[in-house]
Amino acid sequence: MSQEPTFWEELTSPVNLILVLFIVYLIYKIIRSKFETEVEVPPPPPPLPKIRKDLTVAELSKYDGTQPDGRVFLAVNGIIFDVTRGKRFYGPGGPYAAFAGRDATRGLATAQVAGSDQEYDDLSDLTPDEVASAKEWEDQFREKYDIVGKLLRPGEVPTVYSDDESEEKTEDKKTQ
Ligand code: HEM
Repeated sequence: MSQEPTFWEELTSPVNLILVLFIVYLIYKIIRSKFETEVEVPPPPPPLPKIRKDLTVAELSKYDGTQPDGRVFLAVNGIIFDVTRGKRFYGPGGPYAAFAGRDATRGLATAQVAGSDQEYDDLSDLTPDEVASAKEWEDQFREKYDIVGKLLRPGEVPTVYSDDESEEKTEDKKTQ
């Protein structure tokens, strides 16, 4: 009469031994990968101090993400936004890098990823649909990003912002 195999005999049978070793290997890999990702994630960089300032087109162009501080600004409908938080979109090599440091209004309104090359684009030739599209983008940017200031027309005098000046004031000035 054949005897039932003991637990030890069961465990050390060739097929089960391979399975047990495989499971141990998987557990090792899982623990190791968890440890590695925890170690490799760098701490988020401290947020940059806010800038409140009106800029000319030439001044805006410096904020294209290539400077040491990595700030990225862009303008929509004459309002400059700090889009540094969206660096994966607008930073160097990003899909919308062409908007970085530029007036993005025309590109956004006409669905072309290209910043304006003009000294100051007055946008007067945009169609009503394009104007509406630019306004939608502006609203989206207002929701998501901080306002830096106004994009200055040639000869326009910049606003002097005090520390506690609200964003609404900038917006009022812009629409005048
Ligand atoms: C095949 C066409 C396109 C596809 C599939 C596409 C897809 C996307 C996706 C997936 C995002 C990320 C959304 C998020 O994670 O919040 C995005 C963001 C964005 N797209 Fe497009 N896109 C297209 C065309 C365009 C065009 C033509 C423009 C403008 C000219 C544009 C402007 C933008 C901008 C500005 C953002 C970033 C918005 C932000 O800062 O949150 N996209 N797009």
